[in-house]
Amino acid sequence: MSQSRLKIEVARAALSEVDSGMVLGVGTGSTVNAFLDELAGSDIQLKGAVSSSRATTEKLAETGIEVMDLNHVGELELYIDGADEVDEHRRLIKGGGGALTREKIIASASRRFVCIVDESKCVKVLGDFALPVEVVPMARAFVGRKLVGLGGRPELRDGFETDNGNLILDVRNLDLLDPLKIESEINQIPGVVTCGLFARRPADRVLIAGEAGIRRLG
Ligand code: A5P
Repeated sequence: MSQSRLKIEVARAALSEVDSGMVLGVGTGSTVNAFLDELAGSDIQLKGAVSSSRATTEKLAETGIEVMDLNHVGELELYIDGADEVDEHRRLIKGGGGALTREKIIASASRRFVCIVDESKCVKVLGDFALPVEVVPMARAFVGRKLVGLGGRPELRDGFETDNGNLILDVRNLDLLDPLKIESEINQIPGVVTCGLFARRPADRVLIAGEAGIRRLG
């Protein structure tokens, strides 16, 4: 089965997590877009959605779902998002699309976070995927040096600006055996907005589409 087919399969499986009347937190990326297509074709009627990016806001508008401000809705019942890497403890690397900060805010503001991936995203140890770190522009070089001090090899994502007006450093070579520790260490560097490790706020459930069907973690 192709990767795009697997994304559709997991998107369809995620519909059973969603109820009519919900205000849903919605992540960013091609798997989430597949999920929104499946949602549009279902009989589920959301009250609205909180969006994690401009791209998702546009997709929600096309789908006819009202976009709501997180400041006005309080705690969300459910957040649905994809990921770039997932381990067996449901810890994630996110931010391949650069939306990591808003994604982490909405995931943290949600009672449940259901992550939807195809099996190519599953790893034993996080870190093959370069870790995205969102950085305030004036701190780019300073943060870069600190990341080198942690053993990383940061590279500026060329020509990319986040929805928050910041930069992304993609960091290779970090030891992510203790993701909780490295997530806090990176997030404490002045100038870092957040890093793409989701260890402090892992997914509550991961749905994984593979050749043999849908596997669940959590
Ligand atoms: C967006 O910033 C990322 O966190 C996405 O969740 C991640 O890149 C997954 O994207 P795909 O669903 O396109 O693989």
